[in-house]
Amino acid sequence: MIDTVTELDDLRGRVARWKRDGLRVGFVPTMGNLHAGHFSLVKLARARADRVVASVFVNPTQFGPNEDFARYPRTPEEDAGGLAEAGCDLLWMPSVQTMYPFGADGAVQMRVPGIANVLEGAHRLGHFDGVATVVARLFNQVQPDVAAFGRKDYQQLAVIRYLVRELAFPIDLLAGETMREADGLAMSSRNQYLDASARAIAPEIHRTLQAMREAVLAGMPVQQVESGASARLRAHGFEVDYAAVRRDDLAEPGGTASGALVALVAARIGGTRLIDNLEFDARA
Ligand code: PAF
Repeated sequence: MIDTVTELDDLRGRVARWKRDGLRVGFVPTMGNLHAGHFSLVKLARARADRVVASVFVNPTQFGPNEDFARYPRTPEEDAGGLAEAGCDLLWMPSVQTMYPFGADGAVQMRVPGIANVLEGAHRLGHFDGVATVVARLFNQVQPDVAAFGRKDYQQLAVIRYLVRELAFPIDLLAGETMREADGLAMSSRNQYLDASARAIAPEIHRTLQAMREAVLAGMPVQQVESGASARLRAHGFEVDYAAVRRDDLAEPGGTASGALVALVAARIGGTRLIDNLEFDARA
């Protein structure tokens, strides 16, 4: 069974001992309900560090008032078993009180400008401020040398890169590949909200992203690619928040896109909101 700590002093004591022994510490922050995507991040961190800490904390400040904080799946025993198997050394499970000693309303909050406010940020107001708030706290608590995040949350990764650079955290960031089911659906804890009929349709997001890439590579103007992708998803029963083509820094490419690009989709099927993306190169 994996060592689990819930008190900040215990976490700090463990990490300090490792650092005294000259060991590099890797970190994988999560909200639990772990799947193969999370375990691949543990392995990625393991390859670049001597010890790996994973956190499980369902962070209230990154959920909007009408989002799924209360019903977000919590599976601590399965998570602990999977982390041990994946080669994680320590599980950090702070309480809300430990993370936010004066409550969420009394918390010092991050406010991330620019990239945090487009796409996901425009549809989930304050979401990335909450992510940055908790990730900065987690970095401060764990004090890792390296930290791993998944590419599935493309914009989150961009926000965290910005945070690390802006606040000068001495942490190397690692980006893990998106893990997919056999039919292309990106792994996500929220996939378990899908009933059988929504689950059958959900891989259409990945197919749409592939079609967006092919259309850009064929020279179709970005606006047409985006409206075609939204129409395709709607025809399959999705409610679409966005289907967008962006440069890899999330800036709008304009006209006909080239260079390092990413196609991103957020859409709801049967009440479940899914996000996915596909990075590609369209060098002229
Ligand atoms: O990606 C997640 O699971 C969360 O947004 C994170 C990074 C653990 C912060 O709560």
